[in-house]
Amino acid sequence: MKKNFPAWRPPLIPALLALASLAAGPALRAAQTNYLASLDISQVSQGWGEPYANQSVEGHAISIGGQSFSRGLGTHANSQFILDLGGHADSFSARVGVDDEVGQGNGTVIFKLVGDDGKVLWQSKEMHAGDAPVPAELPLTGVKQLTLVAESPDAIDYGHADWADAYIVYNKKGRPKALSSFQEEAVILTPHPAPRPRINSAKVMGVRPGHELLYTIAATGDRPMTFAAEHLPTGRHWWSGLFGGSDPKVGLHLDPQTGRITGTLKMPGTYKVTLHAKNALGEATRELKIVVGPQIGLTPALGWNSWNCFASAVTAEKVKAAADAMVTSGLINHGWTYINIDDFWEVHRDSQDPTLQGPQRDASGHIIPNPRFPDMKGLADYVHDKGLRIGLYSSPGPWTCGGCVASWQHEVLDAQSYAQWGFDYLKYDWCSYGQIDKGDTLAGLQKPYRVMRAALDSVDRDILFSFCQYGMGEVWKWGAEVGGNSWRTTGDINDSWGSMAGIGFRQNGHEVYAGPGHFNDPDMLVVGKVGWGPNLHPTHLSPNEQYTHISLWCLLAAPLLIGCDMTQLDPFTLSLLSNDEVLEVDQDPLGHQAARVALNGQTEVWAKDLEDGSKAVGLFNRGYEKTIVKVNWSDLGLKGKQTVRDLWRQQDVGQFSDSYSAEVARHGVVLVRIWPAK
Ligand code: GLA
Repeated sequence: MKKNFPAWRPPLIPALLALASLAAGPALRAAQTNYLASLDISQVSQGWGEPYANQSVEGHAISIGGQSFSRGLGTHANSQFILDLGGHADSFSARVGVDDEVGQGNGTVIFKLVGDDGKVLWQSKEMHAGDAPVPAELPLTGVKQLTLVAESPDAIDYGHADWADAYIVYNKKGRPKALSSFQEEAVILTPHPAPRPRINSAKVMGVRPGHELLYTIAATGDRPMTFAAEHLPTGRHWWSGLFGGSDPKVGLHLDPQTGRITGTLKMPGTYKVTLHAKNALGEATRELKIVVGPQIGLTPALGWNSWNCFASAVTAEKVKAAADAMVTSGLINHGWTYINIDDFWEVHRDSQDPTLQGPQRDASGHIIPNPRFPDMKGLADYVHDKGLRIGLYSSPGPWTCGGCVASWQHEVLDAQSYAQWGFDYLKYDWCSYGQIDKGDTLAGLQKPYRVMRAALDSVDRDILFSFCQYGMGEVWKWGAEVGGNSWRTTGDINDSWGSMAGIGFRQNGHEVYAGPGHFNDPDMLVVGKVGWGPNLHPTHLSPNEQYTHISLWCLLAAPLLIGCDMTQLDPFTLSLLSNDEVLEVDQDPLGHQAARVALNGQTEVWAKDLEDGSKAVGLFNRGYEKTIVKVNWSDLGLKGKQTVRDLWRQQDVGQFSDSYSAEVARHGVVLVRIWPAK
């Protein structure tokens, strides 16, 4: 049973300091106590929920080992709170522990106080709920930056991490400044694309028999550039003549100026095409396999989605601008393809905003978009005319997560509308389906996805099907069988280290369920200017954390959906999204997902096989201090001399016989590809 303690008592140390300052003259008198909860705690990055001032992460009174505290900061592992002290701090004091709200013995958290250059200045033992609060006392003289860290070594579940009675004493007036991320120089590693042509689009694509195909040959290099394709299936066969000639609508056509391949193919089979891209400086070729059959989405989707930037503020103009920017930024030349509208293209159930009001469906039940999207077909045509594909969003319940009209009992009609408008991608959420089925059985969890799968199968258009039910019922185990091309494995991501790294590094074990046409989806990218609404901000991930994000997602063969405002891409963000050797790791035709092959404290090595027999390997440092990370060939099943190439820098780093080691920045990565040495 919890013991009830009297409400807040002044902590001993500040009280003593106050007394001392009275006695000791002007220098000490100026000392100032800054309670942690009075700082800008919105800058706390954490793995789940929101930080709370003077309460636990679930909004209860802070309670550790039966002791209640009326002051403190309630967070959730893995969390970090970065404070710029300006070198003016004297000391830190707190009582730390796992909040009693999670129940005796639950949660595992290690608390750390990290100083300049990532030095761990103090660290708690491994703590669980029920353990008595542990005092964290630290002199801070000369320390410029202090980071409060609460980490769970394995799963973050129940990691309700409290910094009770936490304060920093300053030696003069002033306050610690909370930072959203480490202030690091944004070093661009991606080299400029070469002026000679290089083809970057997927090496394999699936299309269903008789369905429209659009494949843009993505190529970097100076313009003007022209395109050609050998062995492009024309749809004409030796027997065509016998039966009155070929069907002019069947067969593929390449536009030599734009590099777009369009058309349809009726005969199932694998067609091997050789693509050419030519400019004044040279010519590039690449083999493309077009697989006509039941499976589409053979490589993870590459594109943009409106949610992480605009959320409920999306409009058709913003979607068009994103498509424009996909072209003008040059990202289309690196293989980026989809322009996806998330929630809020539909009419809202009760919004006061007139642009979200209107009739929800017509007399025959067809969905009517809200006034911000007056012409869905026109919008799809606009996006297709740029050589891109377009996607949208719905939910199986009556309402979407944002409270807009969803597809319940209108699945076939909705699929027909999507096809008729010309949409190529559907993200299908779970929201409000809880009203129909509690989701407590596997059959119940699967049903809405089976229903929409059948609806999509009934229309004559290829629509990529992306499940978004946050991993319920271990969806990775059945997502492919139920017909998903991808499935979210987690809740929503945000642009914090706690969220991104928490999600990314939790994907280990899911790799056995990924393959061509069906991929795990750890949620969308949070680089560039994001905001989930009208007000955007630059991502709160530090530059090294952003390298980790993109490298890990590529290793995971994740769908890559850019979440930022495409019209405000800065050079660093662009460089993260346009490294062809890195993107090739994501788009590799084998469709393998990386697994963790080594774990050593805060460092991890993840690796996956690539089609040409090489391996992509990520050396990650989740710690706060730069460190050497090593991969042993034995961890990769390799023997003998190997050539190692740094993918971000696109440079060979040498040949190594047993292992490769690299210095990795805090929260950073070194991403390499390894081939047997010739
Ligand atoms: C859920 C999804 C998000 C987004 C919103 C839209 O939260 O996980 O990705 O689609 O719904 O309301």
